Amino acid sequence: MPRPIVLVAEELSQAGLDLLTADFEVRTVDGADRSALIPALADVDAVIVRSATKIDAEALSAAPNLRVVARAGVGLDNVDVPAATGRGVMVVNAPQSNIVSAAEHAIGLLLSVARRIPAADASLRGGEWKRSKWTGVELFDKTAGILGLGRIGVLVAQRLSAFGMRLLAYDPYVQAARAGQLGVTLVPLDTLLAESDVISIHLPRNQETLGLLGEKELARVKPGVLIVNAARGGLVDEAALAAAVRAGRVGGAGIDVFAAEPTTESPLFGLPNVVVTPHLGASTIEAQEKAGLAVARSVRLALSGDFVPDAVNVQAGGAVAEQVRPFLVLAEALGQVFTGLAEGAPAAVTVEARGELAAFDVGVLQLAALKGLFSGVVEAAVTYVNAPLLAKERGVEVTLVATEESPDFRSVLTVRGVRADGTPHSVSGTLIGRRQVAKITEIDGYEVEVRPEAHLALVTYEDRPGIVGTIGAILGNAGVNIANAQVGRMFAGGEALMALSLDSAVPADVLGQIAREIGAHTARSVSLATG
Ligand code: NAD
Ligand code: MLT
Repeated sequence: MPRPIVLVAEELSQAGLDLLTADFEVRTVDGADRSALIPALADVDAVIVRSATKIDAEALSAAPNLRVVARAGVGLDNVDVPAATGRGVMVVNAPQSNIVSAAEHAIGLLLSVARRIPAADASLRGGEWKRSKWTGVELFDKTAGILGLGRIGVLVAQRLSAFGMRLLAYDPYVQAARAGQLGVTLVPLDTLLAESDVISIHLPRNQETLGLLGEKELARVKPGVLIVNAARGGLVDEAALAAAVRAGRVGGAGIDVFAAEPTTESPLFGLPNVVVTPHLGASTIEAQEKAGLAVARSVRLALSGDFVPDAVNVQAGGAVAEQVRPFLVLAEALGQVFTGLAEGAPAAVTVEARGELAAFDVGVLQLAALKGLFSGVVEAAVTYVNAPLLAKERGVEVTLVATEESPDFRSVLTVRGVRADGTPHSVSGTLIGRRQVAKITEIDGYEVEVRPEAHLALVTYEDRPGIVGTIGAILGNAGVNIANAQVGRMFAGGEALMALSLDSAVPADVLGQIAREIGAHTARSVSLATG
């Protein structure tokens, strides 16, 4: 089997590379060089980038085998996430990896500006001993305004609090109570601009935030304010900021990020009370190590078809509880069996998690069931990413039910639905014993106990003696070995369902022979492909 190919398009920590080379063919390319990147994507399964590589619609179309785009960092403005989602490509980032480094860098920039450290350093090295020229300002007792009270904004707030600053923040998506717990007062943007001695920006770059601090806003700031941007270029208009600094309205600025990167030109570079760094917020040994390891782990999970907690375009984000994780494979198998029963996608489907399982976030089980459900239906590779989209496109109504009521099992999962013609179908399963062995426990209302092996045959017929023998003989003659067979029936002499798990798929003609010889009501063969 050829090993999956991982393209590393920017620098990655050695620890991350080591984790990848164990199982994958790892190739490298300079992702910033478009003419090298596009052909290099042709046969890769995963690509790892930082911020210099653009994975847009063109790059995605050049990568027909691509399953995952991994961003070794936080910001995703260089990845076309909606385009990736449409193609079923998972996008992951490393959201926690560099937040401490970025927050510390913002504080570093602020102190450098407040105490004019880089300029004083250059002056002394240049042969000047001037003390009064570099008089700075204290942070103590001043007001800090934080734009964006997310992961990094919070870390900056905590650090500025230690300096004895009063803290304001503008972030319409954060609850006042949460901000209050951190000692931060949420205020409108205008109040923050008018009252802050220091403004530190920690926003994502998007349509709403681009140019958030432009000429108009900079005209309303408290005179002498110090502005720090270690988030994304373009959030503060560089030309307007340079003009405000020159006019003395803004006392100084610490800028790590620029509208166009890389760059060696900006109207800010000529100003003495502006400290600039070339996008160094995440450039620490620790952050690079954490980001490299995090994306390498995510790529491994993604390429083995596993759930990836850091995936940004999977509807159920976040970590999966230990108690839920073992049910993922079962949920996918139940989805596949359901499709086999319904002989196609249903009009509506409900994923039910009953018992102890219901105490946890089971949204991911719905995704896994949908992944299984569509795996046998569409040509395209079905993933956790595009499974909900496929349901939406086909008008399949999807519901998730979680209830603690479960009379027969500690936890049980059911995929229940109706076909477009109104025929209902259901399949349930559970995990049994300390080894958590997966078992299908119910099919279309019949109690069974059969393992969801790679190949199943499901036959319904009128209950009478001799059927097991007849089916066994037909399969035996066809060379199909039965691993397990179970008969479920509502009452003796009524309709019965036989569920067989087999070592190989039942050929269609053999299934037809079974149906004819026993007068089966239905006879279906289901092959489960997991991963
Ligand atoms: P985050 O998503 O945790 O926080 C962003 C916050 O901004 C959220 O609380 C959100 O509610 C808020 N927000 C969004 N739109 C807003 C709007 N229109 N007005 C006000 N608030 C709004 O992100 P994070 O991990 O804290 O990262 C913050 C920024 O730092 C990102 O742009 C990220 O790319 C950047 N970053 C830069 C570096 C660097 O090297 N300089 C390193 C890491 C992260
Ligand atoms: C990030 O978004 O993670 C940072 O800006 C650092 C980087 O681009 O690598």
